[in-house]
Amino acid sequence: MRVILLGAPGAGKGTHCKKIVERYGLTHLSSGDILRQNRAENTELGRKAQSYMDSGGLVPDELIVKMMAEAIGKTGKKGFVLDGFPRTVEQALELDNILANEKIDIVLNLEVNDEIIVRRITGRRSCPACGAVYHIETMKPKVDEVCDKCGGKLMQRPDDTENVVKNRIEHYYAQTAPVVDYYRTKKLVFDIDANKGPNDVISLIFKKLDNLKRKQKKQVVNNISL
Ligand code: AP5
Repeated sequence: MRVILLGAPGAGKGTHCKKIVERYGLTHLSSGDILRQNRAENTELGRKAQSYMDSGGLVPDELIVKMMAEAIGKTGKKGFVLDGFPRTVEQALELDNILANEKIDIVLNLEVNDEIIVRRITGRRSCPACGAVYHIETMKPKVDEVCDKCGGKLMQRPDDTENVVKNRIEHYYAQTAPVVDYYRTKKLVFDIDANKGPNDVISLIFKKLDNLKRKQKKQVVNNISL
């Protein structure tokens, strides 16, 4: 299965992707996580991306496309969930080229109000060691500032301040919302009300993906019996 998760900053892409990959055995490819990894390792890509990320702007398409083409190339036949990519129509067109004869099965579009986004982002805490994500009100760790999974010290991302979030939201409407329209014309988009709590959102996602999986299995059986 090849899935794209779209949504504004803080819509819950990373949170729900982790559960999707666990349930369906897919590879999670987050452009933001790969960029942060490059920054932590001080690679050339990480250095080039830094100023864009810190201001809430988008990293140039050519850098992102090359990075994601490499990541997708390593997933083999396993299937993947794309989180944060594509984020411009140019990136979506390049993704079509990367996939060639393979197709995206579904685009899950997480819709959230702007005020909720700001609350979610400014209250988010992440574990730099294992990538687990928490929220100071809605998804608290058992012990304050300590990761439940690995015991790492939780941190606030440098781009999770109110001013930078506003900039990220503006970029989302200007550059990423048209990507939803691009996939809508291909009839791939499933809209999800992501203002709801995390359990409600993931239940909707699982229901949709379970149905999709069933349909794909049926199709394979039909093709064999033809
Ligand atoms: P990236 O890391 O992709 O950031 P983003 O898209 O802004 O998304 P976030 O990671 O902030 O949010 P999320 O939707 O994953 O929310 P989460 O699940 O954590 O990108 C960072 C930067 O890298 C960009 O600004 C850009 O510079 C660059 N970049 C990355 N990809 C690029 C690309 N393709 N092209 C160009 N530049 C690129 O949830 C947020 C919080 O809310 C958490 O605390 C969570 O616990 C909580 N929460 C989640 N869901 C719920 C819910 N349903 N109810 C209550 N709380 C919830």
